[in-house]
Amino acid sequence: MLDLRGLAVPVVAAPMAGGPSTPALAAAVSAAGGLGFLAGGYKSADQVAAEVEAVRAVTAAPLGVNLFVVEPYQPDRGALDAYRRSLEPEAARLGVDLGEPRWDDDDWHAKLDLVLDLRPDVVSFTFGCPSTDVLRRIAEQGVLSMVTVTSIAEARLAVARGAASLSVQGPDAGGHRGTWDLETEPDRAPLLELLSRVLDAVELPVVAGGGVAAAVDVASVTGLGALAAQVGTAYLLADEAGTNPVHRAALSDPAWAGTALTRAYTGRWARGLTNRFIAEHPTAPAGYPHLHHLTAPLRAAAVAANDAQVAHMWAGTHHGRTRSGSATEITRSLTP
Ligand SMILES: Cc1cc2nc3c(=O)[nH]c(=O)nc-3n(C[C@H](O)[C@H](O)[C@H](O)COP(=O)(O)O)c2cc1C
Repeated sequence: MLDLRGLAVPVVAAPMAGGPSTPALAAAVSAAGGLGFLAGGYKSADQVAAEVEAVRAVTAAPLGVNLFVVEPYQPDRGALDAYRRSLEPEAARLGVDLGEPRWDDDDWHAKLDLVLDLRPDVVSFTFGCPSTDVLRRIAEQGVLSMVTVTSIAEARLAVARGAASLSVQGPDAGGHRGTWDLETEPDRAPLLELLSRVLDAVELPVVAGGGVAAAVDVASVTGLGALAAQVGTAYLLADEAGTNPVHRAALSDPAWAGTALTRAYTGRWARGLTNRFIAEHPTAPAGYPHLHHLTAPLRAAAVAANDAQVAHMWAGTHHGRTRSGSATEITRSLTP
């Protein structure tokens, strides 16, 4: 089983679903001595398998695969209908129909079978924690399980279920908060404070991220006892990242200064560059993946129309320090 202490560079390239994570990005970070990750979320099991093969074709270095743990959830019908109606003018403006707000489990069983079969070095989970039985089966395959936690309570529960390692996510992180309970507003404790409390409470290997943008930040989390920093936003402008052109342009433009935590796009709290869509929908209801499906055509049309005021552009609070370049150069710049 992979020992995270053996990483030559204490940097985990955060899995970033929706485009940014690519096999080329994961392979480059792993080859540079960090831990590259593939994002399994939203993809079919076959797509994930093809991505694992693509990485393995170019490097034998360690690799992680991330999966979503989507718990059953029934959003408030009235709130969902009201939210759908509020989006109709935007959909009409972009010339698309809204999607069907349905629940699905992101093809959980097929992807779980896949990782048990392909055995990447690490399988990480976000949005929830697998059962004790699943975590045991992963360990039996020699794969390191890693559960994303955003509070001390989640950390304790993950340990009790048998997680082999934790990824502690702080409030500055770009993208979705991993917070398990959809209705709870995510914990606001700063990363270093949350990390120290988790390290006091558990004995497991821990990585930590959220706002890590430079070597000095990596040194701060490893100095506290994390074995690596998990870094997402700082890789969004990497040559190898699949970040879409609207997102790339905004990240390179200092006019996009602020980020906000929003449920408007997916019904789950996530941090992105503050645009008109986020500002206009501050009271979007909880409902994942219902809202994800509802807004999917809108988001695709916004990207196609180069409309940054509607497209979602996930980014952490430290996005202003994101630089373009090869993943190897970015990994080197993060090395303490
Ligand atoms: C564009 C984007 C997509 C993300 N997608 C995922 C994902 O699929 N799975 C996951 O566990 N975390 C995801 N995250 C969160 C990262 O794992 C990580 O917590 C975060 O990027 C760390 O904060 P930073 O962006 O400030 O580095 C995503 C983050 C971003 C910016």
